[in-house]
Amino acid sequence: MHISATIKPTWLFLILWALVIKLSCLAQGIEASLMPTPPLIWDATTKEFQAQSGDTNGVIIYSVTNTTSTNITIRMVRPSCGCTVAKLPAIPWIIPARTNSQMQLIIDLRGKRGTLNKYIAVDSTVGFQTLILRVQIPDATAGSGTARSRNQKIALADRQAVFRGDCIPCHVTTTLGKTGAALYDAACGICHDAKPKATMVPGLQAKRSPQYREYWYRWTAKGREGTLMPAFETAAGGPLSEAQIQSLADYLTQPQSSPHSPSPDKPTDPTLPVSPRP
Ligand code: HEC
Ligand code: HEC
Repeated sequence: MHISATIKPTWLFLILWALVIKLSCLAQGIEASLMPTPPLIWDATTKEFQAQSGDTNGVIIYSVTNTTSTNITIRMVRPSCGCTVAKLPAIPWIIPARTNSQMQLIIDLRGKRGTLNKYIAVDSTVGFQTLILRVQIPDATAGSGTARSRNQKIALADRQAVFRGDCIPCHVTTTLGKTGAALYDAACGICHDAKPKATMVPGLQAKRSPQYREYWYRWTAKGREGTLMPAFETAAGGPLSEAQIQSLADYLTQPQSSPHSPSPDKPTDPTLPVSPRP
């Protein structure tokens, strides 16, 4: 008597529980049968990638399944920035009916830090899709530690070395086609607004006013011999055109309302959201 009284509520609970599960399965089944299976299914449409300190590039594999009974052709896979390259098995990439295939995404991590969001547009015969890749890069990847002191030594021996060889991806390529504020961030901010800034690199806020145009022009074009400050003019082996140097002088002498703060790494498409840096 005493036993059955304690068992009864337990049984009742179990029966109710089974009913709830059964009902929710039924509801899910109905939902699933109402929603058509997408023709292309990716192993994940949002991926996270954690770079290791010192990595110069990262490789992420995307796997995709054609769930239909006909071939699907992926015509194009376009990442949101030039630093990411999609390696497809073929172009165009034909995925036969009910098969699975893979592509690689290769990101150039040099000179980058913090959290970056990449958007990868996929155009196929069954429509457009966007894949999201969130990349975490530790600070040390950028050029710190041993690489940093090695680079300083190279620049001390020859201040123009920063525009040659394996220095190019971070100190030259990033300046191409840029003017004004964007050029400042890429060409000058890399040294003058570094965190932490090297002791021999001065801050540049003091002379940002219209009477110093000649000062900015000369420092940018000629730099200073015997220091780490390179000459940016092409005549001295620098990467900047006359028009780019003029645009910097304009930018650095325009009246300041608020102090300059270096802009974070952004996706190249200005309409895309940018996540804050840690
Ligand atoms: C991976 C990108 C990268 C490469 C490659 C690179 N640098 Fe740099 N460089 C930076 C960054 C970022 C800074 C700012 C300091 C920091 O954060 O390490 C910097 C700063 C400097 C500085 C200023 C001093 C300092 O340590 O802040 C000098 C000089 C310099 N680099 C020279 C070179 C030379 C020479 C090379 C090629 C031998 C080179 N860099 C290659 C990213 C790079
Ligand atoms: C490779 C690192 C590096 C880069 C890139 C760099 N600078 Fe410099 N800059 C220096 C160093 C180091 C000095 C200090 C020179 C000295 O000892 O007199 C300096 C000095 C200066 C000075 C003199 C500041 C003062 O108070 O004496 C100006 C102005 C200047 N830089 C502007 C620029 C501009 C503009 C750019 C971008 C076009 C730029 N720098 C890019 C390293 C750099």
